[in-house]
Amino acid sequence: MKNSNLLKKEVGNEIKSAKDLRELDQIFNKYLGKKGEITLILKGLKDTPKEERAKVGKEANLFKNFIEKEIKGKKENIRFAGAVAEDAGWIDITIPGRKPFIGHLHPLTQTKRKFEEIFQSMGFSVIEGPEIENEFYNFEALNIPVHHPARSTFCLSLCRTFYLKGGNLLRSHTSPVQIRYMEKHHPPLRIIVPGRIFRNEATDAKHEFNFYHIEGLMVDKSVSIANFKAILQEFLNKFFQKTIKMRLRPTYFPFTEPSFEVDIECVICGGKGCSTCLGSGWIEMMGAGMVHPNVFKNVGLNPKDWQGFAFGMGMDRFAMMKYKINDIRFFYAGDLRFLRQF
Ligand code: DAH
Repeated sequence: MKNSNLLKKEVGNEIKSAKDLRELDQIFNKYLGKKGEITLILKGLKDTPKEERAKVGKEANLFKNFIEKEIKGKKENIRFAGAVAEDAGWIDITIPGRKPFIGHLHPLTQTKRKFEEIFQSMGFSVIEGPEIENEFYNFEALNIPVHHPARSTFCLSLCRTFYLKGGNLLRSHTSPVQIRYMEKHHPPLRIIVPGRIFRNEATDAKHEFNFYHIEGLMVDKSVSIANFKAILQEFLNKFFQKTIKMRLRPTYFPFTEPSFEVDIECVICGGKGCSTCLGSGWIEMMGAGMVHPNVFKNVGLNPKDWQGFAFGMGMDRFAMMKYKINDIRFFYAGDLRFLRQF
């Protein structure tokens, strides 16, 4: 056997420079495997002359312990280095995930969809029209005379603002779609027209210069105010999900005759009287009436053959009533603290 110190150094270096567990195994086998150098010495002790046996045996065992200890140490080093390397790309799957932010429909869109759902269930089609209208559809065809105040207030100043030419304007209601639709479709018909409209308003809690309207029109051979009341009652009950009291008051609109305002019992106070209904217990929710003969004539229909009702209402106001919102400007402010409540 070689000088044991020299041998220890040699084997020690061999172990130190092992790169992985496989190389360590090879070193182990070389010395301590079945046919390893040290194993063979230990096995051959019985043939070793008696006087040397104790010394050789002792040295071989010390050497065996040395190798085992070195290999064990090196193994731990290799494992530790591996763990550090793994740490670099390590993902802690126990950390709670980050909740993704999911958006949702704007309360006005939700309201619009509710309107559509209810009227569609009663056979109405949902129709759209252009936001940029012209004077013919917005006024003339609807029997709104040139001197009518609705012509001057909003449209002219906004037309100038948006440089709209040739009698074009931002529509002040969705009623023009009555005309556009009847020009192309023969009655009987039932439509609703939701859409954005524009007015020359100074904004406050109840007024916006743009908001959403919904127009309704039903035309047939014999359509009466009784039909209007029945359809509207069904709509109101379904929209507010309770029985709603309503009343009609006579009024004037150029495109209907007779015309009326529709009031509902104040949803906020239940008709007792509050600040929203100004103590009256009633709230004006829409304009309506029986289609004026001139409107039928303007689309080439004989008013003697056809009857119909029309109505128009602000969707914002319905949303405000339903969700008890006291300022229309919340809908357009883009404030997430408001929007996330719906
Ligand atoms: N166009 C009206 C407005 O802008 C609303 C309206 C009233 C529509 C009566 C109608 C109606 O169809 O019959 O306020």
